[in-house]
Amino acid sequence: MKDVVKWNVRRIRNAKGRQKIAVLTAYDYVTARILDAANLPLILVGDSLGMTVLGYKNTLPVTMEDMLHHTAAVARGVENAVVVADMPFLSYQGAAESAVTNAGRFMKDADADAVKIEGGEIRAPLIHLLVENGIPVMGHLGLTPQSVKATGYAVQGRDAEAAEKIKKDALKLQEAGVFSLVLESIPADLAEDITRSLDIPTIGIGAGPACDGQVLVVQDMLGLYEDIRPKFVKRYAELGKAMKDAVQEYREEVENGLFPAEEHTY
Ligand code: KIV
Repeated sequence: MKDVVKWNVRRIRNAKGRQKIAVLTAYDYVTARILDAANLPLILVGDSLGMTVLGYKNTLPVTMEDMLHHTAAVARGVENAVVVADMPFLSYQGAAESAVTNAGRFMKDADADAVKIEGGEIRAPLIHLLVENGIPVMGHLGLTPQSVKATGYAVQGRDAEAAEKIKKDALKLQEAGVFSLVLESIPADLAEDITRSLDIPTIGIGAGPACDGQVLVVQDMLGLYEDIRPKFVKRYAELGKAMKDAVQEYREEVENGLFPAEEHTY
């Protein structure tokens, strides 16, 4: 029997310095089941689903209802991993009361274990409020895709002033109570400096090897989009090609009368 201990946010927090944390995104039940069966400690229902699943050009159109729907599907497929739901654009940037209600809906209606919020010091009061109300929060600094109209998708923190600001934001988020922090698309030495300065785990994406964990978008690492190859992604499979080949073979067999064969027939 496999000895699998259920993960929770406290265990993720305490993994710093003991175990590197592998994180992937998931947006549906079947993928969540597979990731959980592979013993991932944390599954992120990213608002990247806007692009990877819903076909938008960025994450901005993603709604609370989209996120709740997909988070609930993921949570139904998970037994052991921590499920973190991304709060979508405009669900937390306004009044604190509605931000708390929206965050709470992920726990109450979708069975998430925590929420993720993009942004630095400006988010600290809200994070403090959520944490005090029993809603664990993961932070997200560096390239924050909900700010794409302001920053584009460029690597962040390249000059000394920008790097200092990200580091200061990281310390403020830790003080506000985040249990872990995503660092996206920042130079590896900055990520290393921040990781050393914090007591909470950093989870990097395009932020080098020194982070306490790594996160990738599941479609990227499985090669589901044959034409999308960001520099920071390692492809562990070529499922896009495998699926296309399988579908083509099926079509040809149907067209040639080879499927169904006798063994598929009642
Ligand atoms: O939305 C997302 O998938 C994310 C990860 C890339 C960190 O925020």
